[in-house]
Amino acid sequence: MRTKGDEAILRFLAAAEILETDLWQQYNELGGIQDKEVPGGSGNPTYIKALSKLDSDMSQYIHDNTDDEFSHFTFINAYLISRGGQPVNLDKFRTLPSSKATGAQQIGRLTNLMQLTVDTSWWTRYRSDNKNPDLGDTFPQAVPGLSKGKFPAIPRSDADLKPHNHIQAIANTAGFHFAFIEQGGTSLYPSLAQRVTDVEVLRVLLSIGPTETAHFQTWHDKAGNAPALTDPTNGLVFPDLNSPPFGGELFQTNLIMPEPTVFLDRKFPVVSIIRPTETQGAAMGALKALTDDGLFIGQSKEFFALLKELAQEADAAQRGV
Ligand SMILES: [Fe+2]
Ligand SMILES: [Fe+2]
Repeated sequence: MRTKGDEAILRFLAAAEILETDLWQQYNELGGIQDKEVPGGSGNPTYIKALSKLDSDMSQYIHDNTDDEFSHFTFINAYLISRGGQPVNLDKFRTLPSSKATGAQQIGRLTNLMQLTVDTSWWTRYRSDNKNPDLGDTFPQAVPGLSKGKFPAIPRSDADLKPHNHIQAIANTAGFHFAFIEQGGTSLYPSLAQRVTDVEVLRVLLSIGPTETAHFQTWHDKAGNAPALTDPTNGLVFPDLNSPPFGGELFQTNLIMPEPTVFLDRKFPVVSIIRPTETQGAAMGALKALTDDGLFIGQSKEFFALLKELAQEADAAQRGV
């Protein structure tokens, strides 16, 4: 590897992709298509039916997103080795429990999908025409209830398969969580690419990053189909985003492309862009977002220490050094 910084950036991305793969694998075992390409689970028909309310192809998309994540971390680790760098392995932290619901494998996991606090402000961030998080702006939640409290995005056991509005709320939570995860990757790659030195390493980041955006765009579209409902077991509300007090440009569900907005400086004309893309502290920001999401509830001190170290090293990388 030409620079320590490039290795640190690739190592943080490898870790992030391993974590992404672990969560997507759990979704695939219960909600995706079961085949040799992404093996492991046996599917949960009730959960799949609830997911299909968002789109009849949800299982295919879940399968394909999972397949992509496996390829991301496998490639980045192989590339690290080919350039004389150290690959990342998180296997010793596969300690969290699997769902007990029909369809899930019983193996140790890196991530927890059963107590999520999902930030849904990506919804309004990509619809705003005059705000940008890189200029200090903040954004309202699409599903305020999901951003507070702790909610499962997969059935924890077969007891979660009814009543109907409960398993539908779990599928809706997954639908918004899919987009939360993929908008994170959509920002992370361009944010870190700004501090890469080697042109081939830059090519790796510029070639993987936009596939995260392809995922995000798909999930952004599907989340808008989540049925409005109240979960009778915990009061979680999925509002009708097309009716007051929602609706309009910030919430309307058929607005799925990035609205042109301010970028770099408010003096420039608005432009359709990924946001945020600030490079300073991008890796620690990503780690904080995943931690705040509840994905690592139950993980060990050693896990957090290693992830923090990988993020800090990536954030210390400087272009050309
Ligand atoms: Fe990925
Ligand atoms: Fe991804």
